[in-house]
Amino acid sequence: MKPATDPHSYAQPAEARVKHLQWKAMVDFDHKIIRAVATWTIEVNANADLITFDTKGLSIEKVTLNDNVAAEYRLANNDSILGQALAVLLKPGTTQVSITYQTSPDAEALQWLSPQQTAGKKFPFLFTQSQAILARSWVPCQDSPGIRFTYDAEVTVPKDLLALMSASNPQAKNETGIYTFSMKQPIPSYLLALSVGDIAFKSISDRSGIYAEPSLVDTCAWEFADLEKMIAGAEELYGKYQWDRYDVLVLPPSFPFGGMENPRLTFATPTILAGDRSLTSLIAHELAHSWSGNLVTNATWDDFWLNEGFTVYFETRIMEKLYGKDYAEMLASLNLQGLHEEIKSLNEAGLSADTKLKLHLEGRSPDDGVTEIAYNKGYYFLRTIEEQNGRDKFDQFVKDYFSQNAFKVMTTEEFIPFMKTYYQEKFSIALADSLFQDWIYTEGLPSYCPKPVSDRFAKVDAALAQWKAGNAITGSTTSSWSTHEWLHFLKNLPDTLSPGQMTALDELGKFTASGNSEIITAWGVIAIRNHYEKAYPKIETFLINTGRRKFLMPLYSELIKTPEGKKRAVSIYSKARPNYHFVAVSSLDKLLKQ
Ligand code: BES
Ligand code: ZN
Repeated sequence: MKPATDPHSYAQPAEARVKHLQWKAMVDFDHKIIRAVATWTIEVNANADLITFDTKGLSIEKVTLNDNVAAEYRLANNDSILGQALAVLLKPGTTQVSITYQTSPDAEALQWLSPQQTAGKKFPFLFTQSQAILARSWVPCQDSPGIRFTYDAEVTVPKDLLALMSASNPQAKNETGIYTFSMKQPIPSYLLALSVGDIAFKSISDRSGIYAEPSLVDTCAWEFADLEKMIAGAEELYGKYQWDRYDVLVLPPSFPFGGMENPRLTFATPTILAGDRSLTSLIAHELAHSWSGNLVTNATWDDFWLNEGFTVYFETRIMEKLYGKDYAEMLASLNLQGLHEEIKSLNEAGLSADTKLKLHLEGRSPDDGVTEIAYNKGYYFLRTIEEQNGRDKFDQFVKDYFSQNAFKVMTTEEFIPFMKTYYQEKFSIALADSLFQDWIYTEGLPSYCPKPVSDRFAKVDAALAQWKAGNAITGSTTSSWSTHEWLHFLKNLPDTLSPGQMTALDELGKFTASGNSEIITAWGVIAIRNHYEKAYPKIETFLINTGRRKFLMPLYSELIKTPEGKKRAVSIYSKARPNYHFVAVSSLDKLLKQ
């Protein structure tokens, strides 16, 4: 099949495409650079005499072909989003291209942490974040999700540190500081990952475990104790886990995302260490990507909902299986509220076209597509089909969708007939074209979007109604509330609250003192909006120490709504910016420039 054209990659896979990477690298913390040789085994179309790679900020030292023959190559002009195309002239019979290069100290995928930014305070730390198109800033590659390859690596790091990749991994440091890796299943470049630091391992089951800084590894293992149950539960739903081991690496707090589904080794933020296991659905989410995304991959970032919508659906099903319908419906309900808010804010920003599932990101950063639309509109679309035709049928479909398309690429336009044909042939059900039209190619949310039913949230709503009528809420009402009930409560308070109400609420929920990152963020937004100064120091500390964009954006966005708040935002940002990853910095620079 002809690969979909990807507007975010210079690669011309129909001419020549990569098959295997052999990566030999040295990680230099003193200069914040990686020196490496990337040797690509390639497959060349009969008439082609060029192979094109994506690069960004790399210094190319030399390029050779099979047997060390120097090659002619050309590095094109830089595009601020896409970087530079690297075209290498091939000879008849070329099967290998070796690129000797080094990364730039401000390579966008890489975050180099000083010892101060780690829990242990003794050793530096490095991690990568390749999705969506940042892999090209640390490996010259065909950086398109539609192009898969296997890889081996040999990575040299300072002797007291451990290196880990999205591949087979060591479980302890060795004397030499040289680590070898192998990823035998073909993956797209956005799943290339590396982390280097003072990292320890703790086993959870014979195929899963936790990596983290030594002082945190026990806490992490406790929080994620259900890891094996999640894997087994996921397998019961949609088929065998295909990647052998599943480990989680808990990173220092500057990691810009909640989680990243690097194969065999999910990268996770420490902000999900709530101390009560209440934020572990994020692990279910990243695990679910082992099927949706890592096995069946969106062809381009315009089809991102195929990765994330399926993953939120699968995540919610894993949580339901482990913790019950009540629990899953709370998650779904929070997601729906977030989705409504996202649609409203995209509409207000003049970005209504971004509320369609199918995106058109050509000429823009794929980061613009990372909204609640792909995640939660995607989820509700799939849930609609499940509810309309039955869960049994939907589950059979999803299982076969994953197995029949494993290690393949999917476009939205291939997905639609795949699903329609499946339902027709297996169940004699004709899925209406309007269903796909309404969700995928239409803005906003169809009126028939399913409504989650949560008894637990109904109780919170009742308490809120009482409170709005002027009655106090007592501890006996809220004593059984979990993180999710509190979040629902906070997100449904009136916009304007009096100083007396703020103090009373804080007494009731102990929000300012909370150690739960989701609560701190939800409460922080309310505190900023209502000038509740008692929470300001907490908000500032949180903003300086946390790099997770999902929390930074709402807090900074609320701050800049008043001139006085904007001043505080700028001052906090000037202290915090050096702690943030490029991904967060690029969003915040834009926000604070307004
Ligand atoms: N794959 C994403 C993270 C991502 C998306 C990175 C697009 C770069 C570009 C990951 O699986 C994810 O969705 N993370 C979420 C958590 C999830 C529970 C919604 C996050 O980081 O908040
Ligand atoms: Zn995801």
